[in-house]
Amino acid sequence: MKRITIAIDGYSSCGKSTLAKQLALELGYTYIDSGAMYRAATLYMLENDISSDNIQAIVAALKYIKIEFRINPLNGLQETYLNEGNVEREIRTLQISNLVSPMSSIAEVRQAMVAQQQYMGKSKGVVMDGRDIGTVVFPDAELKLFMTAEPRIRAQRRFEELMAKGDGVSFDEVYQNVLSRDLIDSTRKVGPLVKSHEAIEINNSHISREQQLNLALNYALKAIASNHIRKG
Ligand code: DC
Repeated sequence: MKRITIAIDGYSSCGKSTLAKQLALELGYTYIDSGAMYRAATLYMLENDISSDNIQAIVAALKYIKIEFRINPLNGLQETYLNEGNVEREIRTLQISNLVSPMSSIAEVRQAMVAQQQYMGKSKGVVMDGRDIGTVVFPDAELKLFMTAEPRIRAQRRFEELMAKGDGVSFDEVYQNVLSRDLIDSTRKVGPLVKSHEAIEINNSHISREQQLNLALNYALKAIASNHIRKG
């Protein structure tokens, strides 16, 4: 069977990465978390005191940013590395969540990330999640999913995740972050979050992770089979 590209786009904290990881595991594909790449770039800028309005410094810094994903042999989980350092935990804080949307609205940042993402996915057999994967990064992806869930439900899930990690944040802070990222991500000029007409929408507000996986897996198997027939 020929391997395909699966693009999963959607709003913040609606379980894209959970689904993308599960799908990749079921299909033996590589999972690529494009949001982690924007988060790692944002962390680099923060650590180097470069603010999102200093475009010149951002452009100069971009060439020093090397992002990779490595599997942790202790737990089998994929972790994000920035210039050889494991930043998996730092990139998930609310501070980075608050800075990442403005940073990822910058055209030059997007260009650099999109080029790396296209390179990572050039051999197919990837599941990549983000905001512009089906529209900009892989417009020819054989399967495009668009995920949504009600904002309060997304904020509650994110709040529980942060609490479990011991981050002392309030529900309201997380809810405001979800709302503001939705707004910035869907209204920015370059690579905005939009549902392409061929994407299949999955609203997971009221379905379980298992139901969601079964649904997506069915779409994936159909897309793989029809790609096989089409391309022989
Ligand atoms: O998926 P995430 O919440 O970890 O993504 C973090 C931020 O990165 C999100 O607020 C918007 C940005 N992002 C983006 O602009 N384009 C992508 N393909 C993925 C993420």
